[in-house]
Amino acid sequence: MSNICIEAQNLKIQFPLKHKMFQERKYLKAVDGVSFAIEQGTTMGLVGESGCGKTTVGRALLRLYDIEEGGKILFDGTDISRLNDKQMRPYRKKMQMIFQDPYTSLDPRKTVGTIIREPLISLGLMEGKDAQDRVEELIDMVGLKRDHLNRYPHEFSGGQRQRIGIARALAANPEFIVCDEPISALDVSIQAQVINILEELQDKYSFTYLFISHDLSMVRHISHQVGVMYLGNLIEYAQVDELYENMLHPYTSCLMSAVPIADPEQNRRSHRIILQGDVPSPIDPPSGCPFRTRCSQCKEICKEKKPELKRINEKHMVACHLYD
Ligand SMILES: Nc1ncnc2c1ncn2[C@@H]1O[C@H](COP(=O)(O)OP(=O)(O)OP(=O)(O)O)[C@@H](O)[C@H]1O
Ligand SMILES: [Mg+2]
Repeated sequence: MSNICIEAQNLKIQFPLKHKMFQERKYLKAVDGVSFAIEQGTTMGLVGESGCGKTTVGRALLRLYDIEEGGKILFDGTDISRLNDKQMRPYRKKMQMIFQDPYTSLDPRKTVGTIIREPLISLGLMEGKDAQDRVEELIDMVGLKRDHLNRYPHEFSGGQRQRIGIARALAANPEFIVCDEPISALDVSIQAQVINILEELQDKYSFTYLFISHDLSMVRHISHQVGVMYLGNLIEYAQVDELYENMLHPYTSCLMSAVPIADPEQNRRSHRIILQGDVPSPIDPPSGCPFRTRCSQCKEICKEKKPELKRINEKHMVACHLYD
């Protein structure tokens, strides 16, 4: 019996673009055939430049988009890709999302208690005293005080607000949580606190996370495995230490070389690779390899054939013709 919590198989999400009459409708390929599996109780980090499709992957896993023909999402081994709203109901409570901006994701007119209680009521899980007990348990879990429950979101700091967002996401006792840049709006000193809470909760309740972030050192710290996306594609996917110590894809090397290094001596010795050119448009992606227009090692085959994500060893997969 495998203990895979959530799996994407050839996931494709495209958004139709506005078009003029008599013109062919065009599509933006936000996610273009992505596959990975996250084991129960582990964290998969997802990195890549802005617009490469990370949030779309996260939302697609929660079935907030229709999944294109041929793609699949398996949750605890069940294919949920084509379930309708009613059939999705039992799964909705098992999958939650924590957002980047705790300022806009909490309703300013409601008390914290009401905000955390809401999912319990709307999913029909609990009411009355049971719901109140659960809300108190949740506020304890994220390290806030019970008298905070009667206050409003604007009375809290950013870090506290993110704790409220986490408490709400946990209300229905989910198994899988998409954390979409959960710390990028927070002060550096607060970031570590929120990360610690996420890690403690994972240890205790065996949550499975998809952790989307631009902070590559935080991704290294929290993840068990990491996926690197470029223009809607997963181009490298490996266990965390393997990826950071032995990056294979030319794009991953560029992305990682942009991370500032605290030690000035090491910084001087490190080689920063500057990416040439702009990210191509996901409406008209290049033929062959999506990265080939900016790749210094581009070969003829890279223009003709899209490289598949291939296993290099037990811990590491890469989509690049250099490893054919
Ligand atoms: N609802 C939508 N309708 C049309 N296009 C969309 C929609 N959502 C996302 N896109 C487009 O899909 C692509 C992927 O977007 P996505 O938000 O997944 O990127 P991202 O990797 O999360 O970026 P960021 O790091 O900036 O959050 C982008 O080109 C974006 O403009
Ligand atoms: Mg995003």
